[in-house]
Amino acid sequence: MSDKATLEYNGKKYEFPVIEGTENELAIDIKTLRSVTNGMITIDPGYKNTGSCESAITFLDGEKGILRYRGYSIEELAEKADFLEVAYLLIFGELPNKEQLAKFHDDIKEESHIDEEMKKILDAFPKSAHPMGVLTSLTSALIAFNPISVNVSSEEAMYHAIVRILAKFPVLVAWTLRKKKGLPLDYGDDSLGYVENFHKMMFKRPNKEYTKNEIVIEALDKLLILHADHEQNCSTSTVRIVGSSHAGLFASLSAGIAALWGPLHGGANQAVLEMLEAIEADGGDTKKYMAKAKDKEDPFRLMGFGHRVYKNFDPRARIIKKAADGVLGDLGIEDPILEIAKGLEKEALEDKYFVDRKLYPNVDFYSGIIYRALGIPTDMFTVMFAMGRLPGWIAQWREMRLRKEPIGRPRQVYIGENERPFVSVDLR
Ligand code: ACO
Repeated sequence: MSDKATLEYNGKKYEFPVIEGTENELAIDIKTLRSVTNGMITIDPGYKNTGSCESAITFLDGEKGILRYRGYSIEELAEKADFLEVAYLLIFGELPNKEQLAKFHDDIKEESHIDEEMKKILDAFPKSAHPMGVLTSLTSALIAFNPISVNVSSEEAMYHAIVRILAKFPVLVAWTLRKKKGLPLDYGDDSLGYVENFHKMMFKRPNKEYTKNEIVIEALDKLLILHADHEQNCSTSTVRIVGSSHAGLFASLSAGIAALWGPLHGGANQAVLEMLEAIEADGGDTKKYMAKAKDKEDPFRLMGFGHRVYKNFDPRARIIKKAADGVLGDLGIEDPILEIAKGLEKEALEDKYFVDRKLYPNVDFYSGIIYRALGIPTDMFTVMFAMGRLPGWIAQWREMRLRKEPIGRPRQVYIGENERPFVSVDLR
């Protein structure tokens, strides 16, 4: 196999190196394109064919439906690991041993307080505010309380910043929910596990002892693991590009959360449930909505279907579908929405439109059903996604800074007016 690719333009040939990743992915290295061709660039809206970086964190093969964090399959991690172990793995590259994990957790607990002044900011939001708006703003506000940008040449400073955000973020997420529900804020309990404590902070009632429900914590843990990283998606690329200007970790994360909110990305889990509820309210006629999804004149899309990268199946969707069945069964919940979801999935998988376009259920198609069973309000779903994605964003930010990547600054092909003289306002 050649390790060079040749570009021919206007009778001239240019050679570029071809690089190969550890999973045999090939890429044409066009770093010298502009200089050797005297200014030519490539154009690739939506970056469908563009690798923005080399990364050792997550491998996915969309054709084969493979997803691995640091070499470990998502199926194995979802079954055998807990979220904190996965966070450590993603960020630092290896699974922690017992001592490393205990220290990591202890260091996180040490940092889990939030400046009291932050409560005033939370108070100022209307109860009706979308939780993603509140979470983005609170994360931005944290920057003001932690203004020092991280000294990335110090492993210790970097570790400290990472631990700080892993400690504070679940508190912010929980407060976002408590504000919405009109519950007093809770600081959790350091004697609990990371995910259990997060759950307690969200749901503890002031007049009731918190008791752990194993099924709920296990399901939550699994959901967080499944969302923990997904290589260079929209929000992660945002985190990396913002961080590439040497903006701090918290600022980069806050931008990532904003990117995640969109309905074509993390906001899809909320959109899926709203869609399923609308279908149910409309009599449960899935065929009608299938037809709408296929009608090019109708903007309706089957939310939770299709993926930029997975063109076979989304391995996370398989795990979640099984978990949804299990959790609802274990909790004794019969949800008509789950039946509608299964019906839609069956129809879509047999429908030529969806088959031809390789549109399969994605991670969000079933996650909302589990969140709902866990008592999480629909407009909190994307916030839960952000909580899961936090270690991935951190890992990607850390990698980008350690690799000393240059500032992200794409080019463009200008298609506007050519130079023209200014016309004063009275002559226009
Ligand atoms: N329903 C109906 N048709 C669809 C859907 C859908 N959900 N998704 C794609 N298509 C069609 C498009 O209309 C297009 O058809 P055409 O070729 O006849 O024009 C074709 O499939 C390709 O679609 P694109 O939008 O070009 O595919 P792309 O890879 O750019 O988009 C995306 C992927 C954004 C996820 C898209 O499938 C979508 O909008 N899905 C619904 C939203 C969703 O579930 N998002 C969550 C993604 S997962 C995540 O972020 C965690």
